[in-house]
Order: sequence, then C-alpha cells, then structure tokens
Amino acid sequence: MKIISSIDELRDQLRGQLRTAFVPTMGNLHEGHLSLMRLARRHGDPVVASIFVNRLQFGPNEDFDKYPRTFAADVEKLEKEGVYVLFAPTERDLYPEPQEFRVQPPSDIGGILEGEFRPGFFTGVTTVVLKLLSCVQPQVSVFGKKDYQQLMIVRKMTRQFAIPTEIIAAETYRAEDGLALSSRNMYLSAEERLEAPTLYRTLNEVANEMRAGHLDIFELERRAMGRLTERGWKPDYVSIRKRSNLQPPAAGDLVQGEPLVVLTAAKLGSTRLIDNLEI
Ligand code: PAF
Repeated sequence: MKIISSIDELRDQLRGQLRTAFVPTMGNLHEGHLSLMRLARRHGDPVVASIFVNRLQFGPNEDFDKYPRTFAADVEKLEKEGVYVLFAPTERDLYPEPQEFRVQPPSDIGGILEGEFRPGFFTGVTTVVLKLLSCVQPQVSVFGKKDYQQLMIVRKMTRQFAIPTEIIAAETYRAEDGLALSSRNMYLSAEERLEAPTLYRTLNEVANEMRAGHLDIFELERRAMGRLTERGWKPDYVSIRKRSNLQPPAAGDLVQGEPLVVLTAAKLGSTRLIDNLEI
C-alpha cells in the first residue's frame, strides 16, 4: 500500500484509473470501517482510503484534540484489506491556505437532527468531502449508513454539484449485542458499554410498534426518549423521519407506507452516540 500525503502525488499515482473506489475516514479504524473497504472493493478497483481528522467538523467544545489517532494500527489493517493507496494528508497538505470557501448544506437537511445539535458540523463535513473527492476523483465512494444524515447530505451535494462519483451506502456494522461500531465507543466505561446496546434496542422497539400499526409518531418518540432518560441517558432526539428527505412524515405519508427511518443521538456519561434504523 502506498501512503501518500501530497495532493499532487496522489493525482500522479491515480492518473488513468477508471474505477477508483474511495472510502474517506478519520482513522481509528474498526471492523465497521473495514467493512466499508470490502464493499468498496466489490464496486471498484483500486481501493483508496483516506485518513484525515477534519478540524472543520468539530465544534469548539468537541473532541478534536482527544480524537483517537492510531495511524500505525490503521495502516496495518488497511494493508490487510488490500487497499492500494492511503491518502493521509496533514492539515497543511489539505488546507495549504485557510479554507475560506465552504460548502453550506441547505438548512432543511443540514440544520435538523445532528445539524441542530452540532452547528457547523455538516458544513465541515461537506467541505472536506468535496475537497477529498476533488483530490481522489473516484468513480465510486462509500459512506456508512451509521451516519445516515451525512450520507444523505453527501449524496445530495454530489448530485447538485454534478460530481462524477457514485455514492454507495454501506450497512451499519454492529457488535453482537447490537451496538453500532463507532470510534467513540472506546470512550465508554465497562459499565456504559453494557448499557450502550439499549440505544439500538430502543430503535427496534419504535420500529416494531410502527410495524404493528402504532402510527402516533410523537407518542412513540416521546416514550423512547423517556425510556432512555429513565436508564440514565441524555437523549438529544429520537426522531421518525422520511428516508427520502429526513422530514417528519405527514399523516398521509404514514397511511401510504412512505419508507421511514428512526434516528437517535444520546449521551451516555460523557459519550455521545448516534444510531438509526430503517423501518
Ligand atoms: O464519517 C466520517 O468519518 C467523516 O465525517 C468523514 C466523511 C471522513 C469526513 O471527515
């Protein structure tokens, strides 16, 4: 595997490739990331991964400095997955001058859910993703459904900017007890780790009630938030939305069987976890 930090070198290395499949990451790789690499391999060749902890998407009180950086271990894992190029720019490589141009996602999709609780987050994400796509110029890019809203926003951005990359969605990789794998799980204490699968269980309870015909979504959301709170979580939201645009479903949508997704973000101790489930 070639490890490249400069944009020019990356372009030289990938020149002439017709089906590059790209997986952007912030490192601290776990099985979830590796499943994205494997999906990328099914859709393209060569597979290019990036590791870049993107300051732009962290709020002032978030964990940019303490975000886990495990470069040597990450390299070993990517080698084993047969990744061809690891693009690992420094901040200077990627932002040689202050990044004054930013992508501004529309508020109806970027200002809700995660966007409401993490102002500026999606501007940071889309700005770096646009830049990474411009560096790698992949024909295919893989994003996980674990970050459901991010996936939708990136998909819409690439469509509206006519970026010639196909966005492939990867299913969420879960531990046996249902907890979605995330770099932030490592912040959980042993006791919190035992409690953490409650988040996914709660999503399943909501989904099961809906499938059983309970269509009062506000009541379902309220009860789910209540259950989490009772168990010591601090939920930001449990929200049932339309998969198509992440807006709340109207009564007619529910009757017509509009595809839905239930999304949640909640803090357990000092660790904020997100998850979602398509209904
Ligand atoms: O999902 C992530 O790890 C990040 O948001 C991404 C897409 C690599 C952009 O920094």
